[in-house]
Amino acid sequence: MRGLHWQAETGRVTAWAREFAALLPEFPFPNSNGMAPDTGFQLYALLRALGPELVVESGVWRGFSTWVIRQAAPAARIIAIDPIFALGHCLDRTRIEPAWRAPDVTYGGGDFSCAGFEFMAKPPGSLVLFDDHQNKLHRLRQGAEAGFRHMVFDDNLPGRATHNTFFHYRREPRLDAWMALVLEEYEVIPPLWDTMAGMENEVFVPGLNLPREPDLALLDTTRAPRSGYSWLTYCRVRPEFVGQTLPPLPRD
Ligand SMILES: C[S@@+](CC[C@H](N)C(=O)[O-])C[C@H]1O[C@@H](n2cnc3c(N)ncnc32)[C@H](O)[C@@H]1O
Repeated sequence: MRGLHWQAETGRVTAWAREFAALLPEFPFPNSNGMAPDTGFQLYALLRALGPELVVESGVWRGFSTWVIRQAAPAARIIAIDPIFALGHCLDRTRIEPAWRAPDVTYGGGDFSCAGFEFMAKPPGSLVLFDDHQNKLHRLRQGAEAGFRHMVFDDNLPGRATHNTFFHYRREPRLDAWMALVLEEYEVIPPLWDTMAGMENEVFVPGLNLPREPDLALLDTTRAPRSGYSWLTYCRVRPEFVGQTLPPLPRD
């Protein structure tokens, strides 16, 4: 099972984009401070390609990405974790609502690293989405050691970001070599159309350039002051490392 050949499969991607754009108006409020519609679609298409039966989401916020997971994988078990579920009662509700929550999603307020996922059965294709702004290398190690082969990371920005990203780490040859050892696939998903992107739209990123159809306009964030493209990245761990203690991360 692999991800999706985005450049080679634009016909399939376009069909799913039409499907997702038709579903999007059903989401009950515009998302803020989370995935934009184009990134939501990238997640949707990847999940449609992988067909997971179990998805863990770390970093839920208002629940837009949980909704996307549910649309893409209607029968999947979803476990959604975020400190909001432990501490939300201490927070100003007007800052964390509106939110989309569903009775068939399991919510938890603990951290992925100590949730005990290593003890859980993982049907083939089980996947973790990390959108929690934590150290991505540590998340990759934690996910693989817990037995997940497929992981998706949002906000893998090459330039300025709120946290260090794989782009930053891969500039360090020993960390790049560690990632090459552990991963059999590392794919930064391209934008749907050519776009400027980054914290200040400072980087040009060539896109798939899907047809400019009116039905797909909802997914187009290329003209926004800050585009929605956030370098969503798919990682597949080499099978020999899944559920194993990984080689130590190189340190200074
Ligand atoms: C960018 S938001 C997630 C956006 C959401 N996935 C979406 O697309 O709408 C980041 C979230 O990570 C959560 N977070 C912070 N630390 C975390 C942790 N250790 N584990 C899980 N989530 C965490 C924050 O509370 C916040 O809700």
